Amino acid sequence: MALRNIVEKDGEGSDILRKHCREVDKVDDRIRTILDDMVDTMREASGVGLAAPQIGMMRRMFVAEPEPDEVYYFVNPEITRREGEQESEEGCLSVPGYAGLVKRPEKITIKGLDRDGRPQEFDFEGFRAIVMCHEYDHLDGILYVDKAEEVHPATLAGEEE
Ligand code: NI
Repeated sequence: MALRNIVEKDGEGSDILRKHCREVDKVDDRIRTILDDMVDTMREASGVGLAAPQIGMMRRMFVAEPEPDEVYYFVNPEITRREGEQESEEGCLSVPGYAGLVKRPEKITIKGLDRDGRPQEFDFEGFRAIVMCHEYDHLDGILYVDKAEEVHPATLAGEEE
């Protein structure tokens, strides 16, 4: 177990949060170690998701834990279906102390590789769809603040992505 530093929007090395991440060539032990560190780091920060660029890795992968002990690993993910619309308050571990209302699809289908490099595909809706879309955006250098109508100081310590 190892914790990684989380890159913040206005902090050192923040350029990486705006980059288009590169695909992962092979899911090997090195990648698995990074994914495991990402889960530790996400949990330590009380987050529900963390994308590789947030720990300074320009690679297309993220982890998510929308409910306790329900962990997802996505390597080279692709959202193949977006349906409907929902709006909710989002936060981000790279934008600490703030929150904003963001519109997202109500339902998605997302595919990619899992922690073992095997293909996986999920249908998500509601909160899980929000989390996956938020993390997916990070891989293209997009932060929720780009999509939020208004970003304001977070009043409650809530879940952050
Ligand atoms: Ni985020």
